Amino acid sequence: MRFQVVILAAGKGKRMNSDLPKVLHPLAGKPLLAHVVTTARELAAERICVVHGHGGELVRRAVTGDDLVFALQEPQLGTGHALQQALPQLSAAPLTLVLYGDVPLVRADTLRGLLAAAGKGIAILTAELADPGGYGRILRNKAKRVTGIVEQKDATAAQRRIREINTGIMVLPTAKLKQWLPKLRNKNAQGEYYLTDVVALAVKDRVPVTGVVAAEAAETEGVNSRVQLAQLERLYQKRQAVRLLEAGVTLADPARFDQRGMLGCGRDVAIDVNCLFEGTVELADGVSIGANCVLKDVAIGPGTRIEPFCHLDGARIGAGCRIGPYARIRPGTQLAAEVHIGNFVEVKASEMGEASKANHLAYVGDSTVGRNVNIGAGTITCNYDGANKHRTVIEDDVHIGSDVQLVAPVRVARGATVGAGTTVWRDTPPGGLVLNPKSQEHRADWQRPRKPGKNKS
Ligand code: UD1
Ligand code: MG
Repeated sequence: MRFQVVILAAGKGKRMNSDLPKVLHPLAGKPLLAHVVTTARELAAERICVVHGHGGELVRRAVTGDDLVFALQEPQLGTGHALQQALPQLSAAPLTLVLYGDVPLVRADTLRGLLAAAGKGIAILTAELADPGGYGRILRNKAKRVTGIVEQKDATAAQRRIREINTGIMVLPTAKLKQWLPKLRNKNAQGEYYLTDVVALAVKDRVPVTGVVAAEAAETEGVNSRVQLAQLERLYQKRQAVRLLEAGVTLADPARFDQRGMLGCGRDVAIDVNCLFEGTVELADGVSIGANCVLKDVAIGPGTRIEPFCHLDGARIGAGCRIGPYARIRPGTQLAAEVHIGNFVEVKASEMGEASKANHLAYVGDSTVGRNVNIGAGTITCNYDGANKHRTVIEDDVHIGSDVQLVAPVRVARGATVGAGTTVWRDTPPGGLVLNPKSQEHRADWQRPRKPGKNKS
């Protein structure tokens, strides 16, 4: 079936109380409009036309691709007027599917059903709402056939009691649409050109009109306020959580789970509460993620445990590692198997070999660390001279004591031991002990300073 998509996205979204155009507000970390474009692509639309107005260039730049064309609607005189602006961009595809840039959760399957229902006529996605206030109502005759749509503001009291509403999503025959649009008039309560008026024109032309009731009313909900945006965010996160649970992932609480990107999980992965996954995250078999972790663009090997309160970004973590609690892993980090990173340790742009450990309070930056290395508490790689970054190399089996500074560029060769409190600023040979000679004194006559007037302790 050949069809194209027009996404209406020119509206202002006054009730968002925001400088950001409504369709650019993020849901699961991605602009509302981008969700709609993704769905249109899933359907394999032959062209996607975005009608934009408010936020002009910002909206254009938010979504990209060869399949996208844009139509500017300025000023915004209604949904019918919006489609008129898209006309010059429409292809010869026989069907045109109209989507809203602020209705992000409509599912591709639902739209496939709508396209199939259209045949050579119109198909309107409708919903039965307990509270239909504010929406356009679907008018049907005695034979239950759709005869028109009336906007809330133009409706009679009897029409306002109708609970079947227009979601705004519809499929139209392109050639007919081109004939109907110029006939729209704006003699209505809002002085707008309503796309919904084409339905009555279609009925007059004996073009069949089908109303398809959405199975899940929630997927047709639009975002008009931040309250609705927050509600749809939760709905979206719940869908993702349920998908993971069904695939065999343990989620301590599906209501306290946020995925803003792609999350791949192996078998028997466990995720505790309040974790956030961004970008592309891959968790291998048996990985467990403790409470309150943020993971962005990371791949984690089998059996690795991330303890609570860790922040991982742009890293590859091997199998059987133990990270945290309170660890920060920054971009460009690669940890081999069985590495231990403990509390208040920051690792940046560094590789660490198998079974190496930095268990407490350390900064490992721009470093190449070998296998079986122990990095003591308070160790700092001094990688920045104020202008440039330099690398630190720590070879296999090195033992670094507590409170050591490694002034890069520097290399600690295989098997060496670096004494506590040492500043290493020259390369060291393999084995042996590296230390800065220091002396220790004891002054027996030394008086601790006292506050004036206080003689007794
Ligand atoms: C519209 C429908 C109504 C339906 C409701 C569903 C019409 C006349 N009414 O009403 O039947 O129940 O949606 O939410 O179609 N837009 C433009 N240009 C414009 C006006 C709107 O691009 O000039 C876009 C908006 O950005 C939005 C969509 O069209 O994505 C709907 O606009 P909105 O103003 O919310 O229409 P409603 O009055 O809610
Ligand atoms: Mg609306």
